[in-house]
Amino acid sequence: MLIDTFGRVATDLRVSLTDRCNLRCTYCMPEEGLQWLAKPDLLTDDEIVRLIGIAVTELGVEEVRFTGGEPLLRPGLAGIVERCAALEPRPRMSLTTNGIGLERTAGALRDAGLDRVNVSLDTLRPEVFRTMTRRDRHRDVLRGLEAARAAGLDPVKVNTVLMPGLNGDEAPDLLAWAVEHGYELRFIEQMPLDAQHGWTRDGMITAGEILASLRTRFHLTAEGEDERGSAPAERWLVDGGPARVGVIASVTRPFCRACDRTRLTADGQVRTCLFAREESDLRGALRSGAPDEEIARLWRTAMWGKKAGSGLDDPSFLQPQRPMSAIGG
Ligand code: GTP
Ligand code: 5AD
Ligand code: SF4
Repeated sequence: MLIDTFGRVATDLRVSLTDRCNLRCTYCMPEEGLQWLAKPDLLTDDEIVRLIGIAVTELGVEEVRFTGGEPLLRPGLAGIVERCAALEPRPRMSLTTNGIGLERTAGALRDAGLDRVNVSLDTLRPEVFRTMTRRDRHRDVLRGLEAARAAGLDPVKVNTVLMPGLNGDEAPDLLAWAVEHGYELRFIEQMPLDAQHGWTRDGMITAGEILASLRTRFHLTAEGEDERGSAPAERWLVDGGPARVGVIASVTRPFCRACDRTRLTADGQVRTCLFAREESDLRGALRSGAPDEEIARLWRTAMWGKKAGSGLDDPSFLQPQRPMSAIGG
């Protein structure tokens, strides 16, 4: 079991498969990209499957989410999913992607054992998409979403970050579109995890503002706390349901007390939190021949040191050294 000193138990593992991405979202990374991890530093497919196996069979992890950068850029993704689906007990498996390439791969991923997918889409307007991501790939994302639904990945969630002056006025339009297509839309408050360190509290759109904007067009009823569990999104029924909308308010309504997450970076470091400043090296242990029990022990020790919260409200808050794209969302 991965328990910390506050009694929280991590059953949800997020695995970053690569720090690379084929978009350049302005709130994430600069136009020129970042200094990517070198190939030999990345965990191999075998190493990833071994670590997930240890997490599932020895440490009580029940759900595995593959993230990036952009995880569809990892050639071995379907193979990794297939091998993880053979683990006992079989973990639930999900993917967080920008949707580019999903049109081609959704069916194979579903066949390999992927259960569900979260796709990032910030706007319905192709020209705003181009400004926000610095790439002209809006149609690919929309097609990827359709392919995910057609492949039977369920639910298909859509993640949206609102930025003032860009898509800041689009919340109601996005919700109408998501309801019509059967996607579960979640708005995410922008977090100070961008590589450029450009985030400011005043420059972000808050959960309160998002809800006020949605309520100009929809009737929202809060879902009970019981149904939320450890999910980062608070959810509302839209016009009486069954459609729902979520808000992930990491900044203004943090949910750290219920956090059930542990993270693995693409270069094999355990992170206890998105905002953690420390990492624990599992790759070194793997490559020096450590047995499963030793790796499990290192992982337990790392999680025991998990802090109470993100520290975002502390005056001394410092952004983690790695940007979001290298941590895995
Ligand atoms: P579900 O299981 O579908 O609810 O997934 P999720 O919402 O946890 O995952 P996803 O990868 O879609 O992440 C959506 C947003 O939530 C991203 O912006 C993540 O960075 C953010 N997020 C995920 N986990 C955490 C966390 O532990 N803390 C904080 N503050 N934000 C998180
Ligand atoms: N703050 C909030 N969300 C972010 N994402 C990327 N960077 C940030 C940030 N700084 C979102 C992406 C994607 C999800 C995994 O995280 O848009 O939807
Ligand atoms: Fe790529 Fe996601 Fe960063 Fe956008 S937010 S550049 S899709 S890693």
